Formats: sequence, C-alpha cells, structure tokens
Amino acid sequence: MPNAGSFRENWLRPFFFYGNNWLSLIGGAITTASAMVLAAFWVISVFGHGGSSNPYLGILFDLLLPGVFVLGLVLILVGILIRRSYLLATDQVPSFFPEVSLQDPAFRHGLEIVAVATIVNFIIVGVGCYRGVAYMDTVSFCGQTCHVMAPENAAYHVSSHSGVACTECHVAPGAAGYVHAKVNGTKQLFMVVVDHYPKPIMADSKVPAASATCLHCHNAHIDLGDKLLIHKAYADDSSNTQTTSLTLLHVGGQDVLGHLSGIHGAHMGRIEYMATDSANQTIPWVRKTNSDGSTTDFVAAGAALPSSAKPHVMDCIDCHNRAAHSFDTAQGALDRMMAQGSPSASLPFLHKEALTLLNAKYDSQTDAKTRISSGLITFYRSQYPSVWDTHRAQVEGSAAALVKIYSTNVFPSMKVTWGTHPNNIGHNDSPGCFRCHDGSHTSKTGQTITNDCSTCHNLVVSNEPHPKLLADLGMR
Ligand code: HEC
Ligand code: HEC
Ligand code: HEC
Ligand code: HEC
Ligand code: HEC
Repeated sequence: MPNAGSFRENWLRPFFFYGNNWLSLIGGAITTASAMVLAAFWVISVFGHGGSSNPYLGILFDLLLPGVFVLGLVLILVGILIRRSYLLATDQVPSFFPEVSLQDPAFRHGLEIVAVATIVNFIIVGVGCYRGVAYMDTVSFCGQTCHVMAPENAAYHVSSHSGVACTECHVAPGAAGYVHAKVNGTKQLFMVVVDHYPKPIMADSKVPAASATCLHCHNAHIDLGDKLLIHKAYADDSSNTQTTSLTLLHVGGQDVLGHLSGIHGAHMGRIEYMATDSANQTIPWVRKTNSDGSTTDFVAAGAALPSSAKPHVMDCIDCHNRAAHSFDTAQGALDRMMAQGSPSASLPFLHKEALTLLNAKYDSQTDAKTRISSGLITFYRSQYPSVWDTHRAQVEGSAAALVKIYSTNVFPSMKVTWGTHPNNIGHNDSPGCFRCHDGSHTSKTGQTITNDCSTCHNLVVSNEPHPKLLADLGMR
C-alpha cells in the first residue's frame, strides 16, 4: 500500500516530529483529558444517574467542555506551526523525519509529558465539571445565580409550588424534552452571557403541555366542587375601612360517573383557540367540540388572525398560567398583607399612602427600598407626629412590609412591573376568562360564550364591612 506508506512518511512522521514541543504536548493533554470527561459524562447519562435533567448543564457539556477540547487542538496546531517555522528559519529541518517509535527517546519523552499532563488535566477538568453539575442542579442556580430569573424565583418561593423543582414544569420528560430544554437552556445562557436577551422575559407559550407536567401530580378527573373565596379590601379613608367579599366559585370537574361540571368540567380537552399575540391575551377565535362530536366556532366581531396562528387545545396552563410565579397587583398584594396584619390597618391613611408609594417609579429595588421606607416614615413623622411617637415600631414594620411587597413583584432591572405578567384566573385585573367570556364571541347560529356572572360564581357578599354570613360560618 504505497499510499499508506507515503501518509506515514509525509504526514505522520512530520506531525510527531514538529509536535514534540511543549505547547503541542500540553494541547494534546488538554484535548485528551476533556474528551475523557465528556465520554465519562455520556456514559453516566446513558446508564442513569448523573444524567441530570437540568437544561443549563448544556453550558458545561455542550459549550465549555467542547470549547476546551477545541482549544487543545488549536494549541497542538499552533505549537507545530511555531516549531516548523523556527526550524525552517534556522535551516534545521531534517532531510528525513525520524520513525514514530517507542525506541526513540525524544518520542518517548514527549509521550510521558502528555501522559502526566493528561492525568493532571483530567483531575482538574473532571472535578470542575462534577462540581458544576452538582451546583447547576440546585434550585438556587436556576433561580438565583441567573439574575434574569430573579422575578420568577422570588414569586416561586412564595407559591404553593415552592417545593416543586423548576425543571418539573419547564422540562418535558423523556429524551426529546431533555434535548429541547438543553438546546434552549444553552441558547438562553449564551444570550445572558452576551447580554442580549428580552426584558422582560415572557413565557411565549414555551412551557411544555400540562399533560407532560401538571398532570404528573394533579388529577384532572376529580370534582373539586365549589370553592369559597374570601377577599378583604381596604378603603383609602383615614381608618382604612375594611370590607369583605365572599365569592362562591363553581370549580367543578369530572365526577366518578364521568359527568362534567363547572369551570373545570366545561373546558377539559374540548376547547381550542387561536390568539393574535404570543402571550395569548387576545383570542378572537374559539372552537368547542360538542358531546356529539360536532363543533361550534365562536368568533369575536372584527377578528383578524395572523396567518401563522394555529389552533391550540386549552389545558390547565391557559387558566393557571401563574401557578408557580404569580405576580400581584399593588392593591391586591397590599390588601392581602394588610389582612394578615402588616402593613398595619390601624395607622391613619395607611392604605392610601402605601398605594401611592408602591405605584411610584423607582430606578432599582435598592432605590425603592430606601425611598418607600423613608417615604412612609416621613409621612407619619410630619403629618401624624403623635402616631409616630407612640407607634414607631408599627410604622417601621409597615414600611418593611411595603418593601417586601414591592421587591417580590417589581423588578426594574428586568423591566417587570405591576401587570407585566397577567394572571389568567379571573377577569378583574387582566382579561383572563373574559378573553373568551366577554359576551362578544358569537357563533354562526347566534350563540355566545356566556358572560352570565352566575355560571362561574355566586357573588354571595360584595364589599360589606361585617358580613353576617362570615360570623355564621364561624369565620373571623
Ligand atoms: C408548577 C409549575 C412551574 C414551576 C415549578 C416553575 N414554573 Fe416557571 N412557568 C410555569 C408556567 C405555567 C409559566 C407561564 C406559561 C405561560 O404563561 O404561557 C412559567 C413561566 C416562566 C418564565 C417565563 C417568564 C414568565 O414569568 O412568564 C420563567 C423565566 C420561568 N417560568 C422560570 C422559572 C424558574 C426559575 C423556576 C424555578 C425557580 C420555575 N419557573 C418554576 C410553570 C412553572
Ligand atoms: C411535582 C408535582 C407538581 C407539579 C408538576 C404541579 N403541581 Fe400543582 N401542586 C402540587 C402540590 C403538592 C400542590 C399543593 C400545595 C399546597 O397546597 O401547599 C399544588 C397546588 C396547586 C394548585 C392550588 C394552589 C394554588 O396555587 O392555587 C394549583 C392551581 C396547581 N397546583 C396547578 C398546577 C399547574 C397548572 C401545574 C402545571 C403547570 C402544576 N400544578 C404542576 C404539585 C404539583
Ligand atoms: C377554564 C380555566 C381553568 C382550567 C382550564 C383549569 N382550571 Fe383549575 N381552577 C380554575 C379556577 C377559576 C379555579 C379556582 C380559582 C382559585 O382557586 O382562586 C381553579 C382551581 C384549581 C385548583 C385548586 C382547587 C382548590 O381547592 O384550591 C387546582 C389544584 C386546579 N385548579 C388544578 C387544575 C388542573 C390540574 C388543571 C388542568 C387539568 C386545571 N386546573 C384547569 C380554572 C381552571
Ligand atoms: C379560550 C377561550 C376560553 C377561556 C379563556 C375561558 N373559557 Fe370558559 N368556556 C369557553 C367556551 C368556548 C365554553 C363553552 C361555551 C358554550 O358551550 O356555550 C366555555 C364554557 C365555560 C363554562 C360553562 C358555561 C355553561 O354555560 O355551562 C364555565 C363555567 C366557564 N367556561 C368558566 C370559565 C372561567 C372561570 C374561565 C377563566 C378562569 C374561563 N372559562 C376561560 C371558552 C373559554
Ligand atoms: C367565565 C366565568 C366568569 C364570569 C362569566 C364572570 N366571572 Fe367574575 N370571576 C371569575 C373568576 C374565576 C373569579 C375569581 C378569580 C380569583 O380566583 O381570584 C372571579 C372574580 C370576580 C370578582 C372578585 C371577587 C373577589 O372578591 O375577589 C368579582 C367582583 C366578579 N368576579 C364579578 C363578576 C361579575 C359582576 C360578573 C358578571 C358580569 C362576572 N364576574 C362574570 C369568573 C367569572
């Protein structure tokens, strides 16, 4: 085989001859060591554990480590080129390259250097990656390290799902979901590294379908019956007059005989829609599949859909879009915290003053922290000195509570402010149910998607100071 011979003589021998320099040898060791770590990671993920589902591992194993691998190759090449041009310039190129053989002391010496350096590099890279994997798998990595996730992370920790890992809802199970999330995660991290990402970050329907996430833990086929919402609100008067509303929501679902009822039962797998925006806030086209298999289309007057719009089967996330990170309105958050005792409803005009402070514009959370605190304290010190003298701790505690409300809902650095992430449950603060139930979605036969208040709830008590019903129920 003359070709093989000439390959050996014209390429292999010169490669090893020129390659026998420090730079190329270290390069060789770096390449081998990173290849070994990559191979070890692949073996571990194929055989189960260590195959973490964290999408951000992509940054380590898809970008960083292959980068190190390529760096090693580049070093080999650069070393060869430098040595070659040096030998050429000093006229030291041998007329004929030595055999590649273990008998050759120079070749053996080079091999020893590569072997030792590979072991050292393998330990360094391996330990580095092991620690990286362990670290990236923590919720703190997903939520905190990556400062762009600060809003979702803060809301997550006060939600019912604070014990559910981010990846449970954001990564679909199985290989496809894993690869998808990995590619996406790597892309997103890269965008963060080069500081080129959208602010605010919107979901844009990139969350896997509920069947792949929510339904692993929740049973869609149960009847939740009615749910009583108790909502306390405060007026802007000097005594922050408290009123209570009681709303009986007909949540329903599917009973053991398969009957569908209420809010849950009405939509289950039977409603499709198309939206004009990526956040699904404007929905001009809705289709219902009736029990006999026929369909009814409801269209909003003057609807115009982009040609790219595709029907989407409604699932849990279309209503519970803020299940793990719900951002409140200023008023909603304030009322809820006041009902819990702090900010204190016993301070004159607290509700009015607090709302003004919460709704003001601040440059950063640090700015908000100082100015909300000092704003409230200054208000009582100057307008109600006697209150300040006697209730100082309450004023300071209320200021701290206001800062807490602000800092879990508004993130100036990420352009997340009141109302940026609308909650689709309800219809008072954002369109929510009324994206379809606004009474203007009509079928060809003149049917409309209902807007009748009592189909969804009974407004049992509406803003009463002391509802008798609450006392009857034994509630305070
Ligand atoms: C219980 C399920 C669940 C968990 C747990 C969860 N998320 Fe989400 N996440 C969602 C849903 C649902 C959306 C919104 C989907 C939509 O509006 O289309 C979302 C949206 C987001 C968005 C897009 C921006 C936004 O606010 O809409 C980010 C970023 C995000 N989540 C980060 C996180 C992080 C970080 C964690 C862990 C600290 C986490 N999520 C945990 C379900 C979850
Ligand atoms: C890993 C399991 C798990 C997953 C996945 C999960 N949940 Fe939950 N969810 C829970 C648990 C547990 C609770 C009850 C928490 C409590 O009451 O303290 C809960 C509570 C809820 C509640 C009632 C409390 C509230 O916040 O209103 C809703 C609604 C809900 N989940 C919807 C969802 C939706 C929608 C998804 C998918 C985006 C989802 N869940 C995914 C475990 C899960
Ligand atoms: C048409 C909108 C809609 C859809 C779709 C929907 N829900 Fe709900 N769900 C609601 C409303 C409204 C409530 C009551 C609101 C509240 O608790 O404040 C509720 C309440 C709940 C609760 C809390 C019940 C309680 O006692 O606190 C859970 C859990 C829940 N839903 C899970 C799901 C799951 C899982 C799915 C998907 C199979 C789903 N929901 C689909 C509207 C919806
Ligand atoms: C994507 C559109 C859409 C959204 C959003 C939506 N619905 Fe519906 N809903 C429908 C359609 C379509 C029907 C069936 C109408 C019919 O049969 O006349 C329906 C039916 C219902 C029914 C049964 C009505 C009846 O006459 O029996 C209830 C209750 C209901 N929805 C509650 C809600 C609640 C609560 C929300 C918000 C949390 C909500 N829906 C959000 C489309 C929607
Ligand atoms: C398609 C279903 C639907 C229809 C129709 C509907 N609502 Fe609602 N409404 C809801 C849901 C769901 C909530 C609860 C949101 C939540 O969990 O905070 C709500 C909450 C409310 C609240 C706030 C209750 C509180 O104290 O927090 C008021 C007030 C209200 N609705 C009034 C009305 C009136 C008046 C009508 C009739 C014009 C109406 N709604 C029609 C679904 C509906």
